[in-house]
Amino acid sequence: MIASEPARKRDGFTTSLGVMAATLGSAVGLGNIWKFPYLTGMNGGAAFIIIYLLCTLLVGLPVMITELIIGRTARADAVTSLQKLAPGTPWWLIGAAGVLSAFLILGFYTEVAGWVFAYIFKAARGMLSSTQPLVTSKVFGNMVSNPVECLVWQWIVLAFISVIIIAGVSKGIERMTKRLMPLLFALLLIVCVRSLTLPGAARGLTFLFKPDFSKVTGTTILTAMGLSFFKLSVGMGTMTTYGSYFREEQNIPATATKVMLADVLVSILAGLAIFPAVYAFGFEPDAGPKLLFITIPAVFTSMPFGQVFMVLFFILAAIAATGAMLSLLEVPVAFLNERLGWSRSISTILTAISLALVGSTAALSNSTLAEFKIMGKTMFDLFDFLSSNVLLPLGGLFLCLFIGWQFGFKNTVASATNHGALHNEAIVTLFFWIVRLVTPISVLIVLLNGLGIIA
Ligand code: TRP
Repeated sequence: MIASEPARKRDGFTTSLGVMAATLGSAVGLGNIWKFPYLTGMNGGAAFIIIYLLCTLLVGLPVMITELIIGRTARADAVTSLQKLAPGTPWWLIGAAGVLSAFLILGFYTEVAGWVFAYIFKAARGMLSSTQPLVTSKVFGNMVSNPVECLVWQWIVLAFISVIIIAGVSKGIERMTKRLMPLLFALLLIVCVRSLTLPGAARGLTFLFKPDFSKVTGTTILTAMGLSFFKLSVGMGTMTTYGSYFREEQNIPATATKVMLADVLVSILAGLAIFPAVYAFGFEPDAGPKLLFITIPAVFTSMPFGQVFMVLFFILAAIAATGAMLSLLEVPVAFLNERLGWSRSISTILTAISLALVGSTAALSNSTLAEFKIMGKTMFDLFDFLSSNVLLPLGGLFLCLFIGWQFGFKNTVASATNHGALHNEAIVTLFFWIVRLVTPISVLIVLLNGLGIIA
C-alpha cells in the first residue's frame, strides 16, 4: 500500500553542505581506497584509468543525475519512486532489482570493511610494522583464512552501521559524514606526500600516468565501466533514495558533478599513496584485492611516527567505508520502512540479520568455503562480479531508458532546472540527450562485449 501524502514530515538532509557530505560520503569508500588501486594494478595502469574516466563522464555521472532526479521528484524509496512516476507500469522492477543488488554488494563490502576494522587493531599492536612484502602478506593471509575472525569482524561492521542507520537520515547519516569526510582528505594527502618522496617512487608515477593500451580487452572496458557505477554508487537505487532526501533548491547537475570530481580526486590520491610505495618496496602492482592491505603498512612503517599514522589511516578508511555502507543499507531500510510501514529499527535489524547470512558466504570465501565455487568464482568474487559487471550496468541502462523515454524531456527539464530557477537549460538538454541515447547504447555495447556475448 502506498501511503497518501505522509502526515509527518519525511526525514531528509538539512543543509546544502549536509547534502554534499552525505552524497560524497556514499561515493567515497572502499571503491577509491581498495578497488580502484587494485583494479588499476591488475589492468595495466594508466590505460585503465583513462577508460575509467571516460566511463565516468559518459555513464556514471549521467546515471547519477538520473537517479537524483527520480528520487527528488518522487520523494520516496527506490521502488516506490518509480511507481509514483509511472503508475501501472513495470518500471518499478528496476528498483526491486536494486534492493537485491544492495544485498550482494553489502555481502562482500562488509567483509572488506571488516578487514579494515581489524587492521586498526593490528596496526595499533605493531603487527603490521614491516616493509617486507612477505611479512605483511602473511598477516593478511592469516586473517582472511581464519573463519571466526572474518565472521566476527563482519558482524561488528553490520552492528556499527545499523546503529547509525537507526538514528536516522539527518541525525545519523548526515551528521556522521559531515564531520568525517574532511579528515579523510587530510590524512590521504599526508600519506601521498610520504609515498611520493620514497626512493624509487617515480616508477609508480610512470605506471599511473603513462598509458599502454596494448593490454586493453573487452573485459578491461567492462571492468572500468563497472567501477564507474560502483564508484558513484549508481545503478541500484542508492542515489534515488538519497535524491529523495535532497533539498528542493539543491542544484542536482552541479552537485553530482562536484561529487564526481571530488571522488575521482580521492581515487587518484589513493593511487598516488599506493603505487610509488609498491615499486619502492618491491611489491607487485597486480596483487589483486590484498594490495591495500600489504602495501599501506609498508609506507607507514617507513616514516616517523608511522605506527600512529597507520592506525589513523585505517580508522579513516573505516570511516570512508562506513559512509558508503550507510547509503547501501539505506536502500532496503527505506523500502521496508516506507513501503511496508515497519519502523526504522525493525527494518534495519531485519536487514542486518539477512545480510549476516548472505554475507557470511563471502566472509568464508578464503577459508571454510574456499572450494565452493559457482561459475568458477568464490561467493566473494561472484557477488562482486555480478553486482559491478552485471546488475549495476543493467540497472543504470534501464534507469536511463526510464528518464529518456518514459519520464521525458519536459519533466526532466522541470526537475533538473528546479522549475527554471537555475537557468541551466542548456546543460540539462545536453544531459537529456546523453541519457536518452549515448549512455544506454554505450552500456549495452560494453556489457555485451565484456560478457563475451558479442565480439
Ligand atoms: N561508492 C561506494 C564506494 O566506492 C560503494 C557504494 C555505496 C555503492 N553505495 C553504492 C556501490 C551503491 C554501488 C551501488 O566504496
